Amino acid sequence: MSQFILRLHLRPAFLVLFGLLLGFGSKTSAQEVNVLCSPALPWCEAIAQAFEEATGIKLNFVRLSSGEALARIRAEKENPTFDVWFGGTGDPHLVAFQEGLTEFYKPSIWESLRPELREQIGERYIPLYLGVLGFGVNESVLAERGAPIPRCWKDLADPVYKGLIAMPNPNTSGTAYTTLATLVQIFGEEEAFDLLKQIHQNVAQYTRSGGAPGLLAGRGDVGIAVQFLHDVIGHIKSGFTLTTVVPCEGTGFEIGGLSLIKGAPNREAAIQFIEWALTPEAQALAATANSFQLPSNTNSPVPPESPRPEEVKLIDYDFATFGSPEVRDRLVERWNNEVFPLPR
Ligand code: G6P
Repeated sequence: MSQFILRLHLRPAFLVLFGLLLGFGSKTSAQEVNVLCSPALPWCEAIAQAFEEATGIKLNFVRLSSGEALARIRAEKENPTFDVWFGGTGDPHLVAFQEGLTEFYKPSIWESLRPELREQIGERYIPLYLGVLGFGVNESVLAERGAPIPRCWKDLADPVYKGLIAMPNPNTSGTAYTTLATLVQIFGEEEAFDLLKQIHQNVAQYTRSGGAPGLLAGRGDVGIAVQFLHDVIGHIKSGFTLTTVVPCEGTGFEIGGLSLIKGAPNREAAIQFIEWALTPEAQALAATANSFQLPSNTNSPVPPESPRPEEVKLIDYDFATFGSPEVRDRLVERWNNEVFPLPR
C-alpha cells in the first residue's frame, strides 16, 4: 500500500522532470520551428531531418490531415503554436487565408514556381505540389467478386462494389474534400449528393487520412481506394499490387499548400524553413519518401513515377469557390447530415 502511495506521489514529479528535460513547457527558442505537416509521415520525417542538418534549426512537427490541421489552426487562432503549415490539399489553405489564420509570404523564388499553379490560387498561399485524384484498384479482389474494374465515378455506385470501396472522410481529410468538390463540379450539387449516397452503400470504410484507402486496397481488405494517384503509386512502390484509374468523366486535383501561420511564434525560422522547402534539393526529398506529387518549383526534378497532369482529363477546378470557408463548411456539413448517417 505505502509503495502504491509513493508511486502515485512520485509519478507527477517524474513527469514534470522528464518534461523539462525534453523541453516541454519551455518557451520555443529562435532556433526552432513548429510545423503542421499534412503529407504522408515519411515525407514529414525526411524534411525534419534534412532541415535540421541544413540549418541547425530544430524542426518539430505534428502530422495532421488537412481538415484536422485546419481545425487545429482555427482552434489556436488567438494563440498560435505552429509557425508553418506544410503540405495538404489547397482548399483548406485558402479557407485559412480567408479567415485570417495564415498570411501570404512571397518567397524569393516565387517566379520559379510553376506559373499555372501560382495563377490558379493567387497570392494566398504558396503552391508546393500538384496531385491528381483517381482510384487505386486491387484487381484480384475485384476478380474474386466477379466485379469489373471501375472506369468512371458513376461506376462506384454499382451494387457489385458493395463493401469493396474505401475512401477518406471529408471532415478530416483534404483528399476527401477534393473528391466531394470534384463530384459537385462534374455533376452539379444535387446529382453529386445522390451519387455520394449511392457510393456510400458500397463503402466499407471512411478513413481519417487521404493516404489510407490505398493501404486497405493493397492489403486486399477492399478492392477500390479513392485517393490521389501519386498515393496509389507510393503504395505500389512499397510493394502492393494496385492499378491506377483516372475516372472517365474527368477528375479533380490539388495544389498542395505551404502557408505561414499568422502570429507565428518563430517567424524568422518559419521564413527560413519556407525558403528552404521550395528549393529543388528539399523538394526532391518527397520522392525519396515515396511521395510522387508534381513539385511546384520548375527547377525541381520531376520523379519519373509522378502522374503527368497533361496526360489526364482534369476538370477546371474552381479553387475560388471551393476554397471559400462558406462553401467548404456547408458541403462538409451536408455530407455529415445527408450521406454519412445513412444505413449501409
Ligand atoms: C496525401 C497526399 C498529399 C495530400 C495529402 C492530404 O499525403 O500524398 O498529396 O496533400 O494526402 O492529406 P489528407 O489526409 O488531408 O487527405
